[in-house]
Amino acid sequence: MYAECKSRTCNHGPLITLSNSFGAFEDAFRISVSYYCTCYCAQDEEFHIYAPPAGLEALRAGILDDLGLPSQSALVSDGAIESLYHVCHTLLRPGDEFITTDPTWNWPMAFAQAVGASVKQIPIYGSQHRYRLDPARLEEAIGPKTKVVYLVDPNNPLGTACTKPEIERIVAAVNRAGAYLIHDCTYRHFAYEHHLAAQLAPDRTITIYSFSKWLGLAGLRIGAVVAHPDVIERLAAAPPNNLGSSILSQRAAIAGLSIKDEWFPGVLTELRDNQALVKAAVDKISGLSVPVYPSNGNFLVIECGELGIRPEALVAAYNEHEIMIRQGGYHTPTFGEKFVKVSLSVPRAWAEEFANLLPAMVERARTSNKPAKVF
Ligand SMILES: Cc1ncc(COP(=O)(O)O)c(C=O)c1O
Repeated sequence: MYAECKSRTCNHGPLITLSNSFGAFEDAFRISVSYYCTCYCAQDEEFHIYAPPAGLEALRAGILDDLGLPSQSALVSDGAIESLYHVCHTLLRPGDEFITTDPTWNWPMAFAQAVGASVKQIPIYGSQHRYRLDPARLEEAIGPKTKVVYLVDPNNPLGTACTKPEIERIVAAVNRAGAYLIHDCTYRHFAYEHHLAAQLAPDRTITIYSFSKWLGLAGLRIGAVVAHPDVIERLAAAPPNNLGSSILSQRAAIAGLSIKDEWFPGVLTELRDNQALVKAAVDKISGLSVPVYPSNGNFLVIECGELGIRPEALVAAYNEHEIMIRQGGYHTPTFGEKFVKVSLSVPRAWAEEFANLLPAMVERARTSNKPAKVF
């Protein structure tokens, strides 16, 4: 499965994908998740039926259990992105304001704008902001029209995670405004420490959950929105996919949850070792730096602006070796010129190849520092 997974992911281009995470790990993952979801569904021919609209009960319970939010309710979706789309379309009206950070995850801004809401971004990139959201700046930004605060925590691409006091102040500010907090916890499982806003404000927090990153099921499209049962009831009234998310994907997610305790610690160890390896390689090149270390996500940001090389040129240089990383502009037009992002929940050999090539790739990027085609 690993080999197939590799080639399938790479049909459209590079072989080694360090631009997202697809849990390219063997053993427990292969045995339990791929075996269970294909064999169980295939043998029982369960795929003939529609899943329940809100998701299989075992999966809904498993997600709440994983988050430790037993009194909340979960609505399973075709990936976290569908939940974000649905929540934005349900909560926002024309004239409302949607506040998020810069960088953030961009799609929810488009969803908010599509409904007629305005979007305000609070810049958090740079050492002056410590690459994190100071709650005081959120307090200043919130106004009478603010309806939704969208917080990606841990932040993608930066890898910073909110501390407990920060979350407390963010939650208090959102509550005072009578707004909702969308707490996008897609990368929560990789964090050293993570604090759920829903523990503090169960009525006004909407927690977004994904199986794409920690379990590497991005292609199966499976995630969830978790909130107060009343909010979930409102969301369940007219979901984008009322015929239920893929049964195969839900079975895979259930299998993943069942092996998480035994399997995931190994993934975390490998990810953190990979981060250390890449950081050491970056530290050897003057002008390159890792501004957030360790990262609470399954990725690292590498700043290259000081070297005078464009992120796109570095991405293109790695592409020549069939290694895919992300230019900062993919995440933020304002700060995108400063960095690349490298995803590292991948096999050690991939991280080693990236690190070993780094000096040569920097030189290659210097000599071809012209616009490059990247995606
Ligand atoms: C912050 C964030 N939220 C949501 C998603 C989408 O997750 P899913 O694949 O579960 O739709 C992503 C994907 O990269 C993400 O980075």
